[in-house]
Amino acid sequence: MIQDTLIQLEKTISLIEKKNRQLEEKNEELIKSNTKLKETVKEKIQSEKMASIGHLATGVAHEMNNPLGFVMSNIGRAQEYALKLKEMIFSYEKGFQSLVEQGHTPALTAHDAVQKFFKEKEMDYVLEDFPKLLEESQEGLNRVHQTLKDLHNFARVAPEQMELSNLHEGIDSTLRLLRHELKNKVTVTKEYGQIPKIRCNLSKLNQVFLNLFMNAVQAIQDQGELKIRTEHEKNFVRVYISDTGCGIDPKQQYKIFEPFYSTKTQGQNMGLGLSTAVSIVKQHGGNIQVESQPGLGTCFTLTLPMAGIPDL
Ligand SMILES: Nc1ncnc2c1ncn2[C@@H]1O[C@H](COP(=O)(O)OP(=O)(O)OP(=O)(O)O)[C@@H](O)[C@H]1O
Ligand SMILES: [Mg+2]
Repeated sequence: MIQDTLIQLEKTISLIEKKNRQLEEKNEELIKSNTKLKETVKEKIQSEKMASIGHLATGVAHEMNNPLGFVMSNIGRAQEYALKLKEMIFSYEKGFQSLVEQGHTPALTAHDAVQKFFKEKEMDYVLEDFPKLLEESQEGLNRVHQTLKDLHNFARVAPEQMELSNLHEGIDSTLRLLRHELKNKVTVTKEYGQIPKIRCNLSKLNQVFLNLFMNAVQAIQDQGELKIRTEHEKNFVRVYISDTGCGIDPKQQYKIFEPFYSTKTQGQNMGLGLSTAVSIVKQHGGNIQVESQPGLGTCFTLTLPMAGIPDL
């Protein structure tokens, strides 16, 4: 009787153990699908974000390009006119001078009045400064024009294709977009090697550069350096992005690539920059590595195959 009960008990225990194992397996599956879900949500948020930035950028660029075009062309004309006006004033001056030399009294009086006006209104300075002002304005407009172009390229809509692209162009235009964040805080040094064009989706890689540059800027407290070095090795291109920021605690280094991991307390950082960068680089058949020393700085290394992988 006891024997039977014991056998029954053993059977029940083994059944419970089996159920327990099944539960653990299900639990693991759940954890995995949860992580996957988080990744999918993150990718979805990021791609929606990029798509709306793309639309916005294209719209803004389009709206601004037309007025910018005619302001630029008007300033060009105004520069020509300024030169002509300057020439005209000099030729009047010459005419007056010859009349005065011939003893023409009314001309002398008029000449004196003009000289007085010139002095009072600092006309020598005005005539010298006028073309310079126009030139500076032209330069400012060229910069606005370049920024619009960069914005447009950066967030190009329909960025799903891989094409042969120059990584240096992508890095430069991303840096130009960040000019405001960098100025007075970060000194940028570039050591560009002889790298070939690689088959990639440049606007997606620009997103990687942007995330890494932003992290560098945010890691630097007052002033620091951001260095970008590129090199070509066999079938790969490497981009080293290093900063002299706060560095990363070795115990946290394995966590930084996880979605939603962030040590920033400002509230705008979602902890998605690096995980997004990793998934984009993986889509290109490459990888990202990190080396960091707390208090000294961090270096991220992107390794990208020259040939890329088939269309995303
Ligand atoms: N260059 C760096 N120097 C120091 N710490 C870094 C650097 N880059 C990343 N980190 C650390 O890794 C964490 C994760 O970076 P990630 O870019 O994924 O998220 P985030 O910058 O916090 O937020 P988000 O990118 O979404 O704005 C950061 O919060 C920071 O602790
Ligand atoms: Mg970030």
